[in-house]
Amino acid sequence: MERTFIMIKPDGVQRGLIGEIVKRFELKGFQLVACKLHRVTKTQAEFHYEEHKGKPFFQELVSFITAGPVFAMVWEGDEIITLSRNMMGKTKVLESQPGTIRGDYALHTGTNIIHGSDSPQSAEREIGNFFNKEELVDYSKII
Ligand code: CMP
Repeated sequence: MERTFIMIKPDGVQRGLIGEIVKRFELKGFQLVACKLHRVTKTQAEFHYEEHKGKPFFQELVSFITAGPVFAMVWEGDEIITLSRNMMGKTKVLESQPGTIRGDYALHTGTNIIHGSDSPQSAEREIGNFFNKEELVDYSKII
């Protein structure tokens, strides 16, 4: 069983896409482990996007992600990192296929609605940047 960090960015929250995106993840069969409507701090944003530091769009990225609330989530399921990235579609909107979240709802790469971890290491790091251990549900102890 794998976990991933999924974040609906400020554009997705503002456009009322939380319900639609959560529905897609639930219907796929993934389990929601944690979620919150959250205002990202500058420190959190810079840590989250550390690998893009130095790129021409870095400052714009930090400004955008801190500009309004995001909907931060942790989901779990078999192979969820690969499967959820397939559901999200490619980062660049010109490459994201219809039927994917970005392919259906995003017009520009800078405002591409959703973020998802790209590896188990990124997932662990990103989950830790947004959630305490106590906020994560352990279904094996409940159901
Ligand atoms: P995300 O998956 O959150 O990871 C980095 C983000 O940088 C990416 O989605 C895009 O929203 C954003 N971005 C802005 N400009 C570019 C660009 N030219 N190339 C790639 N990503 C970009």
